[in-house]
Amino acid sequence: MDSRTLFAILFSLSLTSAAVVPRNNDLTYDVQSGERAPIKGEAPVAVSLEFFAFPGYVQDLSTTDQCLKNLGDVTGSPTPVRIGGTTQDRATYDPTLTSAVDYTVASAGAAPATLRYGPSFFDLAGALEGPVTIGVNRRLNNINNSIAAAKEALQRVPTLYAFELGNEPDLYTKSDPIAGNQTWTPALDASIQISWQEQVVPALGLTDDKKEIIQGGPFLQPPKFSIQELAPKEVESGAIQYIKSWADHAYPQSACGGSKTNLETLQNHTAIVKFVETFRPEVDTAAGLGEGNIRPLIFGETNSATCGGGGISPTFGAALWLLDYTFQSVKLGYERLHFHQGTIGNSPYSWWGDNHVFAPYYGAYFAASAMGGMDSIVQLDDGQSELAVYAFYKDDQLSRGAIYNSVFFSNTTAGDRTYQNFTLTNLPSGTQEISLKRLTAPYTTSQQELGQAPTFGGQSFADDTCAVQGDEQTEHVEVQGGSATISVGASEAVLIYFK
Ligand SMILES: *[C@@H]1O[C@H](CO)[C@@H](O)[C@H](O)[C@H]1NC(C)=O
Ligand SMILES: *[C@@H]1O[C@H](CO)[C@@H](O)[C@H](O)[C@H]1NC(C)=O
Ligand SMILES: *[C@@H]1O[C@H](CO)[C@@H](O)[C@H](O)[C@H]1NC(C)=O
Ligand SMILES: *[C@@H]1O[C@H](CO)[C@@H](O)[C@H](O)[C@H]1NC(C)=O
Ligand SMILES: *[C@@H]1O[C@H](CO)[C@@H](O)[C@H](O)[C@H]1NC(C)=O
Repeated sequence: MDSRTLFAILFSLSLTSAAVVPRNNDLTYDVQSGERAPIKGEAPVAVSLEFFAFPGYVQDLSTTDQCLKNLGDVTGSPTPVRIGGTTQDRATYDPTLTSAVDYTVASAGAAPATLRYGPSFFDLAGALEGPVTIGVNRRLNNINNSIAAAKEALQRVPTLYAFELGNEPDLYTKSDPIAGNQTWTPALDASIQISWQEQVVPALGLTDDKKEIIQGGPFLQPPKFSIQELAPKEVESGAIQYIKSWADHAYPQSACGGSKTNLETLQNHTAIVKFVETFRPEVDTAAGLGEGNIRPLIFGETNSATCGGGGISPTFGAALWLLDYTFQSVKLGYERLHFHQGTIGNSPYSWWGDNHVFAPYYGAYFAASAMGGMDSIVQLDDGQSELAVYAFYKDDQLSRGAIYNSVFFSNTTAGDRTYQNFTLTNLPSGTQEISLKRLTAPYTTSQQELGQAPTFGGQSFADDTCAVQGDEQTEHVEVQGGSATISVGASEAVLIYFK
């Protein structure tokens, strides 16, 4: 292809995209339009801590307590925590172990191939403020050991929410002890998963009203291995009586084996809408099991890219992805999302580390601030552009809103940041002014640990303590004739407070 042809193609492409996304015209959104979806959980923004790393997160880091507390404060209820992951299925409970966990790793930053944990592991879990979900081992086929662990957890974790029996069984193979040399299939998993529930729960000596204690699944990226396959069998067998909730795991991208990740795709609003939509059959299944059989469906483990994250994961763009992805998932019907935190110091998608707070945490804080105390969410945009607009209701009153401009603005984008005007119409009568807090950073590629801390309402989180720092800056926009115009830059979001 000669350069003139290439130029002609690029020129026509640029015309097309300019026509699809009008950047300089006002876009109007009737804030009282659209279909409201319930916000089902009290705390939709939740955390998952990798099993072996959990004691380190709570014992060694100066940030964990306060980072969890910040989220709980804006939510109005404490942050749920799930403790699990790949290393849960490598772990053996040792009632004589005096430390919380014991393992060695092949090299710094690696995850252990095998580990032991003791009773004090559960004391640490019991000290967390929010509800705790604990994963025990199924892969190694040592059911008595998992029962012993679960019994101890019941004694020591007053805030226990549920147990998971195994992690991502989709990844089990014929050679895992649980498979007993049989080809591992969704049907085999379901029959073993149910059989384990039928042995584990009765062994715990729970009263009838406490027997719903298992989080079924948890599957990585359905539909192969899914709640769609498992749940009807739980109902048929009667083991549904032990089910507290269902969990899926979800990662839009992979960083495994050095796979390339893409930030522009990650933060793209249309791509986020499409990705979440693929989980609709899971939601429909969970909602359609019949009276007495409806259980919450959650993302029990999720984040931007598998295998701890990739180059995209510690960026401000991942914060923007996170807030939009959370709103979409809640709107679809997921009760909460546990964002996974991996090996300390070797997990680019983690929200905080030793003396660090990372950019994605700002997205979590934004999403929690938007939804805290609210009971429904409405998407006001059509999901077909790079621009997202949401409204949040409490007690039938329009209370908050959020705008996300997902247009990519990186440190290599030519030219200045573009700004888009959003005009909100049909504001509740008597509204004279709306206030807002802006979530921004120099670029979507900005990382706090590289000296470009994001700000939310002018404030940031201190690296050593996770405390909010700086003066809060609230912007005020005048309402005229029931409308207000808000300008949001490429790769920025704003949280709106309607009075
Ligand atoms: C956005 O709206 C403001 C106030 O209405 C106006 O001054 C500004 O020119 C608009 N910007 C764009 C890019 O249209
Ligand atoms: C597991 O515990 C049960 C009940 O105490 C016992 O009958 C069984 O032999 C144990 N299994 C193993 C493999 O230890
Ligand atoms: C599984 O198959 C291997 C090789 O065919 C055999 O050595 C092993 O004993 C089998 N294990 C079980 C649990 O049947
Ligand atoms: C955003 O994602 C949609 C859906 O995958 C795609 O059609 C569109 O081209 C993407 N936009 C950009 C700017 O990458
Ligand atoms: C852009 O930001 C990334 C960090 O996300 C950094 O690695 C890279 O060096 C920056 N590039 C430029 C041109 O500043």
